[in-house]
This record gives sequence, C-alpha cells and structure tokens, in this order.
Amino acid sequence: MCGIVAYAGENSACPFLIQGLKRLEYRGYDSAGIALAGSRLQIHKCKGRVSDLEGHLISNELEGQVGIAHTRWATHGEPNDVNAHPHLSMNGHFALVHNGIIENYAGLKAELIRNGYSFQSETDTEVLVNLIEFFYGKGLEINAEMAIRLALSKVVGAFGIAVICNDVKEELIVSRRGSPLVIGIGEGEYFVASDATPLVGYTKNMIYLSDNDLAIISKNSLILKTEEDKPASFRISRVDRTIGEIEKGDFDHFMLKEIFEQPGTIEDTFRGRVSADRSAIVLGGLMDVFPAILKAKRIILIGCGTSWHAALVGEYLIETYARIPVEVEYASEFRYRNPILTADDVVIAISQSGETSDTLVALRMARERGATILGVCNVVGSSIARETDAGVYTHAGIEIGVASTKAYTAQVTVLTLFAIKLAFAKGELTVELYHEIISELADVPAKINTILSGHNKIKEIAAKYKGATNALYLGRGLLFPVALEGALKLKEISYIHAEGYAAGEMKHGPIALVDDNLPVVVVAPKDHYYEKIVSNIQEVKARKGNLIAVVTEGDLILKEMVNDVFEIPESHPAVTPLLAIVPLQLFAYYIAVLRGCNVDQPRNLAKSVTVE
Ligand code: G6P
Repeated sequence: MCGIVAYAGENSACPFLIQGLKRLEYRGYDSAGIALAGSRLQIHKCKGRVSDLEGHLISNELEGQVGIAHTRWATHGEPNDVNAHPHLSMNGHFALVHNGIIENYAGLKAELIRNGYSFQSETDTEVLVNLIEFFYGKGLEINAEMAIRLALSKVVGAFGIAVICNDVKEELIVSRRGSPLVIGIGEGEYFVASDATPLVGYTKNMIYLSDNDLAIISKNSLILKTEEDKPASFRISRVDRTIGEIEKGDFDHFMLKEIFEQPGTIEDTFRGRVSADRSAIVLGGLMDVFPAILKAKRIILIGCGTSWHAALVGEYLIETYARIPVEVEYASEFRYRNPILTADDVVIAISQSGETSDTLVALRMARERGATILGVCNVVGSSIARETDAGVYTHAGIEIGVASTKAYTAQVTVLTLFAIKLAFAKGELTVELYHEIISELADVPAKINTILSGHNKIKEIAAKYKGATNALYLGRGLLFPVALEGALKLKEISYIHAEGYAAGEMKHGPIALVDDNLPVVVVAPKDHYYEKIVSNIQEVKARKGNLIAVVTEGDLILKEMVNDVFEIPESHPAVTPLLAIVPLQLFAYYIAVLRGCNVDQPRNLAKSVTVE
C-alpha cells in the first residue's frame, strides 16, 4: 500500500528519499514521486517502479535539504503519471504526499471548484493540497501550519501526510489520522516514513506519531502539537533493526529468505517465553490481564488475510485444549455487523503489521463495547500494539515479502503458547501433556530445518504443476486452516486460482471440478483424522485428480496412493500446523518463480493495508 518518506536536515534530501522509497517497495505500489524544497518546489513523478523514477531524475537538478516522496497504490484514479504523488497545489504553494483515503473529497472538491480551483488528477490527495492552499490564501495571519490544521479539520477519512511549502523551505509538516507515520531522530536531521524500514541504518531513535498530532520539523527542531494546537506528549522508542534484516543476502527473493528464516524466527518467538527446562510458558505481556482471560466467557479472534488463517488455527487450539468458546471473524465483517459484545468477551486482533485498517477499527469498536482487547502483532510500536490493553509480540523480524510466511508461523506459535498456557491454568491439561506439548513446540525449529533441507525435491514437484490453472487444497481439523493458507500462498504469488476447503466438504461442491487437470493438495499427516482424509484422497483418485499430499515421514501407504508427497517429521498434533505449512510455502514459491512472477511484490497486493 502507499508509502511515505520525508526528510528535513543539513544534508541533501534526495539520497535518503530515493533509498527510502526502495525500502518501501515491498508494500506494493504502482507509481512513485518526489518533491524537493529547493529554490522552487521541484516535483518528479511517474507511473512504474522507483527505478523508473530514478531514470527520470538523472536529467534534472536535485537540490534541497527538505523533501517528501511517495509510492502510490492506486485508489482514486488509475495508476498514471498525473495521479502519482506528490501533488502540487494549483498556485504552487504546497506539495503533499498522502496515504489513506479522504472520504468526503467529492464535496470538498466541488466547494473548491466553486472557489476557482481546477484539478489535474482524479485523486483525493489533490483536493487536500488545494484545500490547504485555499486556507493559506485566506489572510496573512494564516501560516502554513495553521492552513494544514484547518484543512485537516474538514477532512473525513484516514490519512498520513507530509507537506512542504514554497514560502517556508526549511520546514516539513507531517500529520496522521489512522495511517501510521514514524519520525526518526538523527543529528541535525529528521527522517519520516510510513513504517520504520526506511529509517534502519539512519537512526534507532523513533517517535510513532499519535493520531491527529502534527509535527513541524526543520533541521534543528521538532515540535509536536495536538490538533488543538497544544504541545503533544510523545515517547522516543529505540528500534533495534539491522540492515541484514532488510536485505536479501544470498537468497533470490525475500520470500525465500523469510521461509528459510522460520526455524530462527520461531525460536525468537519462544525466547523468554518457554523456560529453559521446557516446563512452563511465560507470556509477560499478558500477565496483568491473564485473570480476566481465564474468566472470559468467549474469545473472539479477528484478523485479515493470512492473520485470519492463523486465528483459525488458534480457534481449534484454544477450544480443543482450554475449552473456552472461540469465534473467528474477518475484521472487515466484524466491524460492520453490530456484534453482541460484553465485558466477559476477550477480543484478540492478529496482525503482522499492526496497522491493518479493518482490524484496527474493529478493535476500537470492541473496546467501546466493553470487551478486553488484546493484540498479537509483529511490528513493535504499531497502532494495534499501542491501542490494545495488552498483547504478545511475535518477534518474527521485519517481513518484506508481501505473501506472509515467517510472520504467520510466529503468529501460530504465539497462539499455541497462549492456548496451552490457558489450558494448563484452567486445569484442562495434565502436567504431563503440558510438558509434552511445550517440548514438541521447542522441537519445531529443528523439524522445519529437516523440511527445508528437502527444498530441491519440492522444486522438482513444483515444476510438474507450474502450468496448472486451478488447484484445490484440502485439510481437516487443525489442518483445514493450513489448507486455506497453502491455497492463499499459491493464489497470491503465482496467480493460479486456488481454493482451500475442509476435506469433508469436498463432496458438496468442489468434487465437481476434479478431473485429470486439477492438482489437489491434501494435508494428510498421521493424526486422528487420517482415516477420514485417506477416504477423501480415494474420492479424488477415483476421479483422476492429480494428488499431492503432505504426509508424515515414512507413510508408505499414501506414497503409493498419490502422485507426489511432501514429507514432514512426526509430531504432536498441536504443533503439526507449524510444520505442514512449510512445504506448501515452498511449493507456491517455486511455482511462482517458474511462472516468472514477481514473488515479493505480487500484482495488486499490498503488504500493509491501511485503507478499508
Ligand atoms: C495484506 C497482506 C497479507 C496479510 C494481510 C493482513 O493482505 O498482503 O499478507 O495477511 O494484509 O495484514 P496484517 O498486517 O494485519 O497481518
């Protein structure tokens, strides 16, 4: 989704801005642009990649120690040069970049047209920059900051903005409502971005701007104010990220790197949470609210995309082991369907970015209705992490590939720790089983390493199916969400239509699709659903479907029965979801590479969806 970088300092702004845009590429975008406050406001922007923009810049002069830049993911108006940000106000006083959506832009635009304004683009952003200029032109006593404040008071919707003004070239003004902005503090310079990635290597000291606050930034000063023009409170966070985390290293793609990182990231998720003798689980972030969770009549897990799949695994685990009723909902449905919530409910938002608009708004609604709200987030200091009563960080590190892999397994790890801890505290789990599952969890990284060591075999199998146009993924119980997630991975990055289904439901529809062209991927390790899923495999086989099965190592029966197998080590059923997804991630990855797809930045998708 759209990305913002901005700079005010004693150095030339352009190098940071361009590098920052490159580091935001992973979020997904279709055009890019930059504006610098030099002797005049210079704007360069174009449809396409940041490298296209760079090509465009070579022939131009690039002066300026204050600047703003943007990667756009089209919402209002198609991706083209004109709709790309930054947008310049009609009389050339302001340049602005914007993330989010101005919902009342049509009414504001009509009003501006009545006041003599004309527009070049179809965007809501150009309306905002002209509205700022409109207030600026109202009288000498209205300076740039006041004009921005007045314009923002008229706006309905979500925004993160960075603005520069022709008359105050040393100043950069940023503000947000709903769409995140982080300010990095350097020496004699300040950096702004829509997430911390562009700031890595420049500074570790960062301020996450609060909703409705305004920051007025120049090379020697940073002033934070509320929307009422009062001093705003803030906290400087230390963000310890390394360059290695945001580079591909020896891997061809971030997604592959992140798949291979999973043994390490799962260990990072455990760290400090599983005692060294594997006898107890400690979730420090939930300590204060744990008594309320134990008394909860219901737990509701909300999320979007892959995080919703992790929530489904959580549902099975919590209900099976802790015996607390659980509901899982898409945040986008939950927020609009007027759900019945009471103080006995615990609502947990699952979100890698901690910024997904639907999840954040759903959570706020749950809080207003009295529920305890918790978060399972990856990005430290993100909006969801800051707005929840308590939570657990997944500690998977920065995830750059748009298709989530290591963040997903970290979410499932946290939910497994949570379910098992809850079950033991409620007296639903014997001490022996509690210790056994903890031990099994601690063995997961080594078992994933075994699966990863067979990646060449998975690549060979992927080559056989790369020409498919459709695929069906089947699973049962805890592995049904794994089938959904496996299908989503394939769909996201290879553009093959893939559907995940509960295997028992196959005969109520998808079986009609089975023929000798359809790959059917069945998640079928040896668990208590095994006999049932073998029957489903027989049903597909009878109709000549191409069967690929995720099986427990040494399962000769299924090896004989299906076309291809992905073997996973034997494990306790509670941790099998963490193993079974790994070959499916690799399978999707290799198919997408063989089809020549842009694996890390699939078309139309965004890493962090900050609009609804
Ligand atoms: C986008 C991403 C997905 C992600 C989903 C939810 O669609 O492409 O990978 O699962 O958003 O994001 P979140 O950050 O809330 O987990």
